[in-house]
Amino acid sequence: MAEAVSYRVEDGIAVATIDNPPVNALSAPVRAGVVEALRRASADPAVRALVICGAGHAFIAGADITEFGKPPIPPALGDVVLALEASPKPVVAAIQGVAFGGGLELALGCDARVVGPKAKLGLPEVKLGLLPGAGGTQRTPRLIGAAAALPIIASGDPVPAAKAVETGLADTLAEGDLLAAAKAHAAALADAPRAPRLDARTERLTAPGAREAFEAAAAALAKRAKEEPQVAAIIQSVRNAFDLPLAEGLAKEREFFVALRDDPRSKALRHVFFAEREAARIPGLPRDVKPRAVARAAVLGGGTMGTGIAMSFANAGIPVRLIETDAAALERAQQRVADTYGFSVRRGSLSPEARDARLALIEGAVGLESAAGVDLVVEAVFEELELKKDIFATLGRVTAPGTVLASNTSYLDINAMAVASGRPGDVLGMHFFSPANVMKLLEVVRAAATSPEALATATEIGRRLGKVPVVVGVCHGFVGNRMLAQRTLQAERLLQEGATPAQIDRALTDFGFRMGPCAMSDLAGLDIGWRVRKATGQVAPVADALCEAGRLGQKTGKGYYAYPEGARAGVEDPEALALIEGISEKLGITRRAIGQEEILERLVYPMINEGARILEEGIAARPGDIDVVWLYGYNWPAWRGGPMHHADAVGLAHVAERLAHYAATTGEASLMPAPLLAKLAAAGAGFATLKADAAKAA
Ligand code: 3HC
Ligand code: NAI
Repeated sequence: MAEAVSYRVEDGIAVATIDNPPVNALSAPVRAGVVEALRRASADPAVRALVICGAGHAFIAGADITEFGKPPIPPALGDVVLALEASPKPVVAAIQGVAFGGGLELALGCDARVVGPKAKLGLPEVKLGLLPGAGGTQRTPRLIGAAAALPIIASGDPVPAAKAVETGLADTLAEGDLLAAAKAHAAALADAPRAPRLDARTERLTAPGAREAFEAAAAALAKRAKEEPQVAAIIQSVRNAFDLPLAEGLAKEREFFVALRDDPRSKALRHVFFAEREAARIPGLPRDVKPRAVARAAVLGGGTMGTGIAMSFANAGIPVRLIETDAAALERAQQRVADTYGFSVRRGSLSPEARDARLALIEGAVGLESAAGVDLVVEAVFEELELKKDIFATLGRVTAPGTVLASNTSYLDINAMAVASGRPGDVLGMHFFSPANVMKLLEVVRAAATSPEALATATEIGRRLGKVPVVVGVCHGFVGNRMLAQRTLQAERLLQEGATPAQIDRALTDFGFRMGPCAMSDLAGLDIGWRVRKATGQVAPVADALCEAGRLGQKTGKGYYAYPEGARAGVEDPEALALIEGISEKLGITRRAIGQEEILERLVYPMINEGARILEEGIAARPGDIDVVWLYGYNWPAWRGGPMHHADAVGLAHVAERLAHYAATTGEASLMPAPLLAKLAAAGAGFATLKADAAKAA
């Protein structure tokens, strides 16, 4: 294996190159290698200065996140930065790509930062529930001022090269040979009297108005500081730069960092980081399988979903044909697209020129034959299997072999559509979430005969659309909706047993969701589920009664809640409550007060139980895939890591015990812990201990 940090001397300048693929994270050998390079450069009288650079695309992506929670290996990153700062000879960072987190902090310990045009400097720790822990909150304010540093640290968003130079975060932008420029910069520093280091510089902090400007920037973050502990810590730590000498500020920063790193919220966010990347690796898909080129797509059906999907293609610059049954339906679909873009233009989030460019990419057409000549078709017509089978049979004829044929069905059997097409290898599901132009989740449903190329094409196009594709298997409702059905069922039962819509929603919003299930149904329209229940012979007495009373949700001004004229959120409605109480009476249920803990457990644990069954059946390959589905499809709070991570955090033994308890108290056998859950709980293990595909075998 190549050395993590290589060292050479050229023209009297030492060059230390960090080579720790894929992104030059600051793993222990890198930290040791940087210190060793510094030692050699300091000891060699022929060396005048040191340049630190990164091999490959990244300068340094930050601390090695996989080391968090493991016993620390010296040297600590903070000590590496201090050593650089104390170097007897000038040190220059040559930054060609990302300098993130600890990578930027290391660069802040250098005398100067020379950046290439593609450099990106940032402190993204906040997104992992952390604050910069190797001096970022102390040195950034000293370098560029606290009011400028705070938004960079609190947003975690990268600063591009030119902007970095403008703010003073970087010293020079080198358009040509970066290493040559960095070496020249280092040589010039070696020739000049040594400028004071950051630890001795306070002029940006003592400047008139500096403190007030910082406090104003901090005040703007007050709401986030209340909700996100890392934001509160960031504000306090940056404030410390005014009040404490560097060494003390660094010690305080370290305390904040350790506390946050060990907080379950940061653990959950780190789990999400890795789960998202893991989801991109599709089990059983050979690495050499190439996606087919998609230059043009078609969407069948210009309803709620079809229009959103067509806009997703146009937003990504991909020409798309939007196909309806007749001219009137097409006109309605095109109007819906125009209205949505028009709304964005009025809100200022889209320029009129960009709107026109996107509209020009959406071509309307009538009749299935118009799907000929495209590379990918997404079907989004009514949720009826016979209709979809007919459509796939026609698509199989009118499109060329190799054209990927995808269904956006929510629940139906994609294998049946695949057979009907006569080209099952080309068929799969591409299940978007409403609103499809906004929500990031894409469940890519691998059917029995889906070819590796079709699968690779769908996931790749998903990424081009800016979505997060997660590959799942065929079953009723796939991963997300199948688990959601468990929650919906319990919400209905809880209403019958004595809970109110507000109590149910409150349990989930207190947990971290932006909206509870009743408010969500009101927003989506209660008739959607009603139609499905009628078609499949199911009943949900409370939801059915609301629909029968014309309470279809926000669009009718009332549903679980009432929406008086002008109200932005629903208000509790005595009429709805009376209706719910009437159902309880009709069902012979004596209503009781139900505590928030029971409500939350009964909404969330049955979903986790269903997730365990989904893993057993191999519908999802990994628990992390299920978490990604819930994060991006249903706004599960990221700091809770997703349902399966949450189950691990709570402890599977507890989840299993509560499920068994509710199975006993409600008489619902389906609430008994699934075999996989029971087995892991008994072994004292968690879902995280499962390897890909191991769940299926278990
Ligand atoms: N530590 C360990 N592994 C990392 C890593 C890190 N900091 N950053 C990325 N990786 C891994 C990823 O897990 C992935 O592994 P995989 O191939 O096995 O799935 C691989 O590197 C490539 O990552 P991406 O798929 O994300 O590649 P991209 O090219 O799309 O993006 C990136 C590269 C912009 C560097 C992106 O990975 C990124 O933003 N990384 C995280 C940066 C970050 O959060 N840094 C702060 C860390 S905390 C810190 O520094 C604490 C300090 O203040 C003390
Ligand atoms: P919708 O009823 O709003 O739109 C369906 C459209 O399909 C109508 O405009 C109709 O004219 C058109 N259509 C019917 N037959 C056609 C044909 N032969 N050729 C071309 N167009 C045809 O339905 P919606 O809500 O957009 O759902 C579409 C699909 O997406 C369904 O399978 C649904 O289950 C699925 N879905 C719906 C979600 C939602 O939240 N509404 C979320 C995810 C998936």
